[in-house]
Amino acid sequence: MTYESGINTKLIHAGQRPSPDNGALAQPIYQTSSFSVDGLLRSGMKRGKYVYSRVSNPTLTSLELKMATLEGGDAAVSFGSGMGAISAVLVTLLESGDHMIADRVLYGSTYELLHNVAARLGINVSFVDTTNSKEVANAIQENTKLVYFETPANPTLKLVDIRRVAAIASERGAKTVVDNTFLTPLYQKPLELGADIVVHSATKYLNGHGDALGGIVVSSYEDATAIRRAALRDIGAALSPFNAFLILRGIHTLGVRMERHSKNAAELAAFLQSQRAIERVRYPGIDPGMQGNSNLAKQMSGFGGMIAFEVRGGSEAAITFLNNLKLCTVAVSLGDTATIAEHPGLMTHSVMPRAERDAVGITDGLIRISVGLEDIADIEKDIAQALDTL
Ligand SMILES: Cc1ncc(COP(=O)(O)O)c(C=O)c1O
Repeated sequence: MTYESGINTKLIHAGQRPSPDNGALAQPIYQTSSFSVDGLLRSGMKRGKYVYSRVSNPTLTSLELKMATLEGGDAAVSFGSGMGAISAVLVTLLESGDHMIADRVLYGSTYELLHNVAARLGINVSFVDTTNSKEVANAIQENTKLVYFETPANPTLKLVDIRRVAAIASERGAKTVVDNTFLTPLYQKPLELGADIVVHSATKYLNGHGDALGGIVVSSYEDATAIRRAALRDIGAALSPFNAFLILRGIHTLGVRMERHSKNAAELAAFLQSQRAIERVRYPGIDPGMQGNSNLAKQMSGFGGMIAFEVRGGSEAAITFLNNLKLCTVAVSLGDTATIAEHPGLMTHSVMPRAERDAVGITDGLIRISVGLEDIADIEKDIAQALDTL
């Protein structure tokens, strides 16, 4: 495979390393904790050799090479979960006394990590609306090391201008970290837009089948090496070779899955907009150039499968709606083949105090849907009958 290949070719071929022993085409699962270092002792344990799977393993290397190629980064490091990847970036690149900026709308556990764990480590975090450049610029301090956000954000799906925020951060010597879980490198490449580090919950669309947890960081060689040492070797949130295999296999079909997720989501968003029981629908495909910001339309090449909408009648109506779904599953995850619905206020974002949720639009009536790969007519029928119960 050449570096000029198209993205769908890269999804399949990048990082693939047929077995040198027997030519097996599918990535072998190196289900081993250790590797023989016979003969390496006299040469001073040559670098680049596999020693122990907490630090590196050939199945994980294949996934890391694939993700570095897809995101256009120098290197990638895999972790046992998305939170493992996110916390790895923070604990490696920040130290006590440092400052960082984060958006106010974040996945619930990231919110908790930055509000509570970071404070205990002596890291000071300013929470701003990163869609507002002035807020970002005003929050930067002498000791600001990182600016962190998700776009589209979980769960409100607001869009942050990666190029604009990364320019403000880099001018002041801070690195920009983007959680690219919702769009994946198929539809958005933050590093090409000026970000320094991309993080993923590989549990979601990359794996795509809801059967493995995983996380990935893509960055420069320098940052990846530091992250591998501090967060894998010394902290140890390693991905299992079997889960790496599942995620690698999932990425092979990412292109066709994301196309179908997006097509179904666009249709469902239009359907939801026509429903009287619904106050507001949020989907990146609805007016991506919001607030006259044409960068937003340009930074994504597709809009993905996540939709959020507000039912009239607050949490009572939202719970009734969810309880009446028959085909769609009520669960916290996303990016699976099946359609999953949830109530962020009561589920994924329940750690946020109510006033903060209200201030950023995570209202009592807000429902988040990960639109699956089923026939869209069946998804719509199920949602319509659940809305009819309101
Ligand atoms: C945007 C986003 N980032 C990170 C995570 C954390 O990933 P994981 O559950 O794999 O730890 C999630 C989980 O839902 C997520 O939605």
